[in-house]
Amino acid sequence: MTSPTSKKSMIRALKGECLQPPPLWLMRQAGRYLPEYREIRGNVSGFLELCYTPELAVEVTLQPIRRYGFDAAILFSDILVIPDALGQALRFEEGEGPKLDPVRDIAGIEALSIDGLHEHLAPVYETVRRLSRELPSETTLIGFAGAPWTVATYMVEGGSSRDFAIARRWGLLEPDGFTRLIELVTKATAAYLCRQADEGAEVLQIFDSWAGVLSEGEFEKWVIEPTVKIVAAVRASHPDVPIIGFPRGAGVLYERYVTETGIDAVSLDSTVPLDWAARHLQDKVTLQGNLDPLLLLGGGEAMDKEIRRILEKFASGRFVFNLGHGIIKETPPEHVARLVEVVRGG
Ligand code: CP3
Repeated sequence: MTSPTSKKSMIRALKGECLQPPPLWLMRQAGRYLPEYREIRGNVSGFLELCYTPELAVEVTLQPIRRYGFDAAILFSDILVIPDALGQALRFEEGEGPKLDPVRDIAGIEALSIDGLHEHLAPVYETVRRLSRELPSETTLIGFAGAPWTVATYMVEGGSSRDFAIARRWGLLEPDGFTRLIELVTKATAAYLCRQADEGAEVLQIFDSWAGVLSEGEFEKWVIEPTVKIVAAVRASHPDVPIIGFPRGAGVLYERYVTETGIDAVSLDSTVPLDWAARHLQDKVTLQGNLDPLLLLGGGEAMDKEIRRILEKFASGRFVFNLGHGIIKETPPEHVARLVEVVRGG
């Protein structure tokens, strides 16, 4: 192989090679379960300051790589920097999660602007640039963004939600207005991901954390269509950068997502049956997943057993080991060390 990146196991697996042991990284591998993260987090005024200070964002991205030697590092940032960059100011209140002044009508959409996007996100691009220089040569740098539907839920609801009723109702009852919001976020997200790739991101992951609450018709309009546009935009400027999609909770719609969006790999949540995924998805894309983060929290024999079951079902095809969702903040770091040992053959 001639490509300079082809020695990296993560890229090889995403391009279709079947590797044993599979490459390994974990969603939310940087974060509050690590004491070294909590120390840095304790010295800044808020979470967003961490995202927008390249020196600190680089440091917290590297922490789990130093500790565990994962095959990939994911840029430290958040999916909600996009609304922030569009002019919908974002706050993270201690213990309460994200808060935004909700956008619920055309006037709200018109108050947003994509013009300052790259300027606002310049510190994130600087973080990507520094990481691509500083990471060990075998470690792949993953850039990411939220998918338009998931980001729009936070923009419309004004923060986290239990049922996404306000966003869904807007989409169902006034689809023209809601489409304008989705289109704005789609355009911003495509531009953002392309810039991450320009600056050195070697793989991109699109997080659609709330894809699972939609009916098939909504899924088509708010998940598949925008993802198709983002994939096309990235491919136009970066045809070799693999894209991982994560339509969490999509159930049987995982299959339409895989066949219709053109992504290279799909991240499976823990509810997806392994045999079903191996049979219906693994011949089309690389699978990533899907240990339940609660088993990692609990550790012990139950975790070891499930890791071995996942390896057995997936490791004969295209596969990247990961969790079904992000690491839970109470997880003991020793359990992560044990996971690494078991995946790599212990
Ligand atoms: O290590 C990594 O995975 C990279 C960094 C990363 C973060 N958030 C850091 C973060 C990534 C990839 C995300 C994605 C993200 N952010 C998603 C999609 C994935 C998922 O979990 O479903 C979503 C929905 C968000 C939005 C978000 N960010 C919420 C709802 C919250 C508050 C809840 C919480 O976990 O605290 C955040 C904050 C956040 N993002 C933290 C971290 C490390 C914790 C903030 C802190 O340190 O105080």
